Amino acid sequence: MNQQWDHFYKKTYQERLQLIVANAKLDAAQFQKLQAGASGVSTNLIENYLTDYALPEGIVTNLVVNDQPYLVPMVTEEPSVIAAASNGSKLLADGKGVSAAVLDRLVTGQVVIKTSQFEKVNRFIQQHQAEAIEVANKSHQRILQYSRGARELAVRQLDSSFVSVDLTVDTGEAMGANLINTMLEAVANWLREQLHVEITMAILSNFADGSLVRVSGCVNSDKLATQTMTGRQVAQRIVDASRVAQIDIHRAATHNKGIMNGIDAAVIALGNDSRAVESAVHSFAARDGSYRGVSQWRIDHDQLVGEMTVPMPIGFLGGATKVLPLVSVNQAIMGVKNVHEEMMVIAAVGLAQNLAALKALVTDGIQRGHMNLQLKSLAMANGTTEAELPKILPQLRQLKQPDSLAVKRLLNQLRK
Ligand code: HMG
Repeated sequence: MNQQWDHFYKKTYQERLQLIVANAKLDAAQFQKLQAGASGVSTNLIENYLTDYALPEGIVTNLVVNDQPYLVPMVTEEPSVIAAASNGSKLLADGKGVSAAVLDRLVTGQVVIKTSQFEKVNRFIQQHQAEAIEVANKSHQRILQYSRGARELAVRQLDSSFVSVDLTVDTGEAMGANLINTMLEAVANWLREQLHVEITMAILSNFADGSLVRVSGCVNSDKLATQTMTGRQVAQRIVDASRVAQIDIHRAATHNKGIMNGIDAAVIALGNDSRAVESAVHSFAARDGSYRGVSQWRIDHDQLVGEMTVPMPIGFLGGATKVLPLVSVNQAIMGVKNVHEEMMVIAAVGLAQNLAALKALVTDGIQRGHMNLQLKSLAMANGTTEAELPKILPQLRQLKQPDSLAVKRLLNQLRK
């Protein structure tokens, strides 16, 4: 192992930068790019910090949730995601917008015990609920100042050797990962002392079924008509696509990926942990043992109706929301005032995203709309400057196969 990387994290920023530049033999322009991107805020956010990696942020328009219009900032590198979310939002807005409700906002974690004595642990927890809750609440100085704190403990037998003691906590406006982990470790120590058991681990669960949001919305079938299909036909095809996501894991994964295109992009713009939301949504999609699409569409009279229930383990305050400078700006753009509202709006974006993707898939196919917008990034990835884009894009649109070679050929012609 090369020792120059030992204690890398203890070096100053400039020392780290120099080492990376020398190691990768970066040129002056690459060095400058790294240095110019660096910010004081981020140095303290992660370890071995090098630079800020910027992603594009855009705005979803037309979204209406519970009769209120919202503009939603989204951070994504993928062309057509924001256009699609705005498109789906517009269709849903025509049908009165999305109705949303937070079913609950509780965070759960587990203390896993290696024991065959499920009954003993279960009896102990039933008899000492109040004491266990006090242990959890006392482990964190300010928990009861901003939330109702620990709510309850339940015991599950995992198999003949493992038992999980599940702690449910109201974390207030925070996502609450650090908070609940502190509480769980306190409960774990207490159980070890009380029961003389081997604790395997104490950690929050990303299976966030205590933080569910339900969204629904409808579109009048007429609004879905295309040049070649009636609105009713398109609606029926969307229902069929939704059904396929219930019966086929191959399709369900893609169906849910489309939903997460919107959810993740908004979650990131609002300074939250998109990995936590991803794992929550995907595990929820597989909660009955089969992985399924998390949204479903049906026809009711002349309406196409979509419904989706997803976990949304996010926070409005705390964590990176406090540190990343754009988060408070994005919250202001969105106009959300608390975690419940934020959960509902983000889930609504997911439903809108899903509608736009399904409509594209069952009508023109995804490539027409997506590739049209993708052409810009294809052109730029192959060296087109911003000034050259207006000349290159119309030519690319004419081509049957607009690929890297085509961009380079067109650029050569243009620059002659
Ligand atoms: P269109 O039918 O040409 O749009 O759609 P339109 O001209 O009728 O415009 C309707 C609205 O869409 C507009 O209303 C805008 O809100 C929005 P307006 O503001 O004009 O009153 N819109 C745009 N917003 C921003 N920039 C634009 C833009 N164009 C329209 N350029 C569109 C074109 C691309 C929106 C449509 O084809 C679409 O929604 N396609 C779906 C694209 C998609 O889902 N992309 C995600 C990447 S593919 C993927 O990863 C997911 C997937 O695999 C998931 C799955 O399989 O389920 C597909």
